[in-house]
Amino acid sequence: MTVNPTTTASAATSPSIEPYLGDTVHLLPQTNQLRALHTVIRDRAARREDFLHCSSRILRLLLESALDLLPYEEHTARTPVGAGYRGLRMSPAVHGVAIARAGESMESELRAVLPAVRMGKILLQRDKVTKLPHFYYAALPPGIADGHVLLLDPMLATGGTALAAIQVLLDHGVPEDRIVFVGLIAVPEGITAVCGRHPRVRIVTSAIDQRLNENAYMVPGIGDFGDRWFGTDR
Ligand code: URA
Repeated sequence: MTVNPTTTASAATSPSIEPYLGDTVHLLPQTNQLRALHTVIRDRAARREDFLHCSSRILRLLLESALDLLPYEEHTARTPVGAGYRGLRMSPAVHGVAIARAGESMESELRAVLPAVRMGKILLQRDKVTKLPHFYYAALPPGIADGHVLLLDPMLATGGTALAAIQVLLDHGVPEDRIVFVGLIAVPEGITAVCGRHPRVRIVTSAIDQRLNENAYMVPGIGDFGDRWFGTDR
């Protein structure tokens, strides 16, 4: 896997992600197109419509890539000329679970790819004093334990929220190896936190940034993704 040097984690300041790249952490190919999209959304002066448009395009690429990690079974289609096309179809149910609020930005793109997908939600909030994520509620599709889950949150920063959400899924019977975390940007701190605790959870991301700053924002980062997406930034 080629990791673009401009987004490669700095080994001096961040934990190593090398052991996880490939099987566990799937980084989208760093094409010029993808880098151009990131260049727009990371620009502090990006127009709102450009931010939304380019973010959505990356989210779509991520979700398409995540679907590649799910199991498929052989299926033959009968074509209009009467021939058999020996192909594949996705086997068990796939559910989307958004971590509120930023993860909700990914719901419409997932719905565009899988119109009938059942969508769950997990609401967690970081306690101002302890800095730990506090669980508020989960609304999950019935039968979630029998399917695969795309866990949606654009930012994998400290990993605290992702770990808490993964725990909710495990508590509802979803096996670790059926969880795919889908995020726009990750940093080594978040990747090592998730992969260290749950080595069979897979992560799909479009960029691995250098590190977290003292306020737990990613560097170079994107600012507060949820605020920018929902228009609640100043
Ligand atoms: N969440 C965000 O929205 N941005 C960051 O940089 C970190 C967490």
